[in-house]
Amino acid sequence: MKLKYDKFLSNLTQFMKASEIRELLKLVEKKRIISLAGGLPDPNSFPIEELAKIAQEVIEVYGKKALQYAPTRGVTMFREVLMGFVAKTRGIKVPSIESIIITSGSQQSLDIISRTLIDPGDVVLVELPSYLAAINAFKIQRPEFVGIPLDNNGLRVDILEEKLKKAKEEGKKIKFLYTVPIAHNPAGVTMSIERKKRLIELAEEYDFLIVEDDVYGLLVFEKVDTTPIKLFDKSGRVIYIASFSKILSPGLRLGYIIAEEPLVDVFERAKQSMDLHTSSLSQFIAIEVLRKGVIEKNLPRVREMYRKKRDVMLDAIEENFPEGSLWSRPVGGLFIFAWTPKEIDTYKLLPKAVEKGVAYVPGKPFFVDGSGTNTMRLNFSYPTEDDIKKGIEILGKLLKEELSTRYP
Ligand SMILES: Cc1ncc(COP(=O)(O)O)c(C=O)c1O
Repeated sequence: MKLKYDKFLSNLTQFMKASEIRELLKLVEKKRIISLAGGLPDPNSFPIEELAKIAQEVIEVYGKKALQYAPTRGVTMFREVLMGFVAKTRGIKVPSIESIIITSGSQQSLDIISRTLIDPGDVVLVELPSYLAAINAFKIQRPEFVGIPLDNNGLRVDILEEKLKKAKEEGKKIKFLYTVPIAHNPAGVTMSIERKKRLIELAEEYDFLIVEDDVYGLLVFEKVDTTPIKLFDKSGRVIYIASFSKILSPGLRLGYIIAEEPLVDVFERAKQSMDLHTSSLSQFIAIEVLRKGVIEKNLPRVREMYRKKRDVMLDAIEENFPEGSLWSRPVGGLFIFAWTPKEIDTYKLLPKAVEKGVAYVPGKPFFVDGSGTNTMRLNFSYPTEDDIKKGIEILGKLLKEELSTRYP
């Protein structure tokens, strides 16, 4: 008889549910279908030739260090050049290298933040919708999620204020608000500068921290204001997280957190028991990438590539989606978010879509309040332009069929 493991598992594992979407999308791997469901960068965006040269040079020249263990906070030289990079590209003046910790991608930053800031029952404010893997990372600590709606200008700070008042009246402890202010995943919206300023005022007034996830801050293809919230932060309330996944390569697993030193000290302690440190080899490669300006040289090409794909998807949606649908027009990032007519349950529709040859991510799991039944996230970075056109055409036809069978 096979051993049953349930009695050995910790209580925490019950909050580590496998993503239902992932289960559904396993179907996608088996069949040759067009996937608008992923969140992968276009592999043609990677500066492969430059990286091949740099990787060889790094091992030959710095091999003894690059292949060795490294400090938990990150390779000192990397944090030094990174300070210059964030100052130049995002306007963020990091006071000292001790205010930066290098992580194994933003996902680890979210995990560190979850473990070090949340106690069960604490209020964590998230956007409606919010990045699913962040919700899942926070969920393990069993917070009370409070969802704040978004509109075309990002976070509805007026509704945030109402929710803050209510939470305060009820004597609840609000720990932080998690936001993706630029080219939101999945909503595709960008927060206006007025709202960023108001958010900081509210954080001061109601005494909570802001976790700013700037993973798409440099992947913007329109002329819009992309000032990080961190620039308005006067009292050290903003924990800024960013990553090299979308501007260089996700496979290097390189992210970072910028925050006040006492917080970074705590983050460092948490990281130590997770993985000791982020890959030294990746950090040494990134040092040379930054020194040689590879990202800045490559980014215009990547932005143009994604801008074209986004436009192909927007045009295809316009042409094929049924009346009554709405969708975001993202200024950057990798996703368009769509609202179908209310009668459609995008979760129930997914197996049919997969059957017809296209996959998307149903939007409901992104909403902590259980809404979003008629929403879906569509990725435009990975599929080819042809596949985007074909995929949206199939999807539009299916949505129309579905509506006509229900309401003849
Ligand atoms: C908003 C957001 N945050 C964080 C991540 C995680 O990125 P990584 O762990 O590769 O840095 C992603 C990836 O898609 C994302 O969209």
